[in-house]
Amino acid sequence: MKWPGLWMALALAVGCGDTEGDTAGQFVAFTDHFRPFRNWTRLDVGSEPLEGHPPGPRFVYINQPNPPAGGDYPVGTIIVKSVEPSANFSDWELFAMVKRGGSYNVNGAVGWEYFILGMSTAGVPVILSRGLNPTDLHGYGGGGATTQTQGCNGCHGTAAGTSFDHILSLAIRPGATRP
Ligand code: HEC
Repeated sequence: MKWPGLWMALALAVGCGDTEGDTAGQFVAFTDHFRPFRNWTRLDVGSEPLEGHPPGPRFVYINQPNPPAGGDYPVGTIIVKSVEPSANFSDWELFAMVKRGGSYNVNGAVGWEYFILGMSTAGVPVILSRGLNPTDLHGYGGGGATTQTQGCNGCHGTAAGTSFDHILSLAIRPGATRP
C-alpha cells in the first residue's frame, strides 16, 4: 500500500513549485479587475463579419497606453473585446486577454491568459472561463480542444505574433497611434 508515500510526493511537488503551477511574479486576474472596464479607453475595431465570431459591432477596451514599437504590454494589462449588437448589456459578448507574465502560455501568445466573460443586465462583467483555451460552449474557437495551436491561440498565438505582442487590433499594437 503506497498511498502515504504518493501523497508525500505530491505534497513535495506542489510545495517546491513546479513550472506549471508556479505563479510567482505573475498577475492573476479576478472578476474585480474587469469590473471597471467600461471606463477604460474604448476603440472601434469594426463590424464586418469576422471568422468564428458572433455578428455585431466590435470594440476593444484597454487599461494601458500602447507600448513603443518592438515593446510588449506590461504585466497587469487587461484588454476586453466586446461584441455589442445593442445597448442592452445582456446581448453583449465579451472576450479578454490579460498579460499574466512569466512563462504563462509559453507556446502561444507568451504571457497572455485568455478569458470569456459574461455580463449582467446591469453591465457588470464576470469570468465564465479562463486559461489557455477557455470555452463558452458555443464556438468562437473555444470549445473542446486543448492544444495550444487551437482556440484563441490559433489566431493570437502565432510565432509571427511575437513581434507585435500577439495583438491583432492594429490600433493597439506596440508602436501604433490610436485614432
Ligand atoms: C478566428 C481568429 C480568432 C480567434 C480564434 C480568436 N480571436 Fe481574438 N481577435 C481576432 C481578431 C481579428 C482581433 C482584432 C479585433 C477585431 O477585428 O475584432 C481579435 C482581438 C481580440 C482581442 C483584443 C486584443 C487584440 O489582439 O486585438 C481580445 C482580448 C481577443 N481577441 C480575445 C480572444 C479570446 C479570449 C479568444 C478565444 C476565446 C480569441 N480572441 C480567439 C481573431 C481571433
